Amino acid sequence: MSSEARLGETEAAVVALNGISVTYPSGHIALGDVNLTIQRGEFVFLVGPSGAGKSTLIGLLVRDVLPTAGEVHVAGFPVHRLSGGDVPKLRRRVGVIFQDFRLLPRRTVRENVAFALEVTGAAPELVATATERALRIVGLARLAERYPSELSGGEQQRTAIARAIVGEPELLIADEPTGNLDPLISWEIMELLMDINRLGVTVLVATHDSDIVTTLRRRVIGLEGGRLIRDEANATYHRVG
Ligand SMILES: Nc1ncnc2c1ncn2[C@@H]1O[C@H](COP(=O)(O)OP(=O)(O)OP(=O)(O)O)[C@@H](O)[C@H]1O
Ligand SMILES: [Mg+2]
Repeated sequence: MSSEARLGETEAAVVALNGISVTYPSGHIALGDVNLTIQRGEFVFLVGPSGAGKSTLIGLLVRDVLPTAGEVHVAGFPVHRLSGGDVPKLRRRVGVIFQDFRLLPRRTVRENVAFALEVTGAAPELVATATERALRIVGLARLAERYPSELSGGEQQRTAIARAIVGEPELLIADEPTGNLDPLISWEIMELLMDINRLGVTVLVATHDSDIVTTLRRRVIGLEGGRLIRDEANATYHRVG
């Protein structure tokens, strides 16, 4: 492949990590020489034992973590050299959900979702229509007036997903999205993430759930000790220990 073709591929990719290393101030090497490309529309699992570097890699993609070496491109942004002022622009293109939902407790479901778009300066009419659309996609329109404390764990995660997609991001990242949910609800959340992928959103899911990964046979990226040790299409995952 010519270097020109490679460059074109990097530009078209939603995620491109080139020669990435992350050393925390403690001296711990969390990622070492990681290279990774995710194309538009892919659904990818990120697996590996605790401490492998999965959350560090996710942090890199939204500039929560800065690389010690290498380049990070996400949704067309050169994240490794993005100025602080440009970070909100990146975050508008990338939705993130976490194991612990991270909802605002004093705001309703609808307000939690709408707030994510309001802070970007979007017009009120757009906020209203986009919020209703996101609530419909996650199946929460009828619970829109509830507060997070009045929701099940699965419903809280659906709210977090609605909030993550309300700005119609290119990339949706989930860090252990089913870590606090029982198996049945975990499957529902995973099916919702696949529905969102079918709408054209690229999805990256870090998970320990080997049943889900093995059943769905998607692309699987494996980290171990900060190294990318596997990258396979239609793959399975069997945890050791
Ligand atoms: N802020 C930090 N300062 C120093 N070391 C850190 C920091 N954050 C993470 N680490 C270390 O970096 C390594 C990778 O951590 P990371 O959270 O990325 O792993 P993980 O794969 O997400 O693990 P888990 O499956 O438990 O969530 C671990 O050894 C961790 O202790
Ligand atoms: Mg983690």
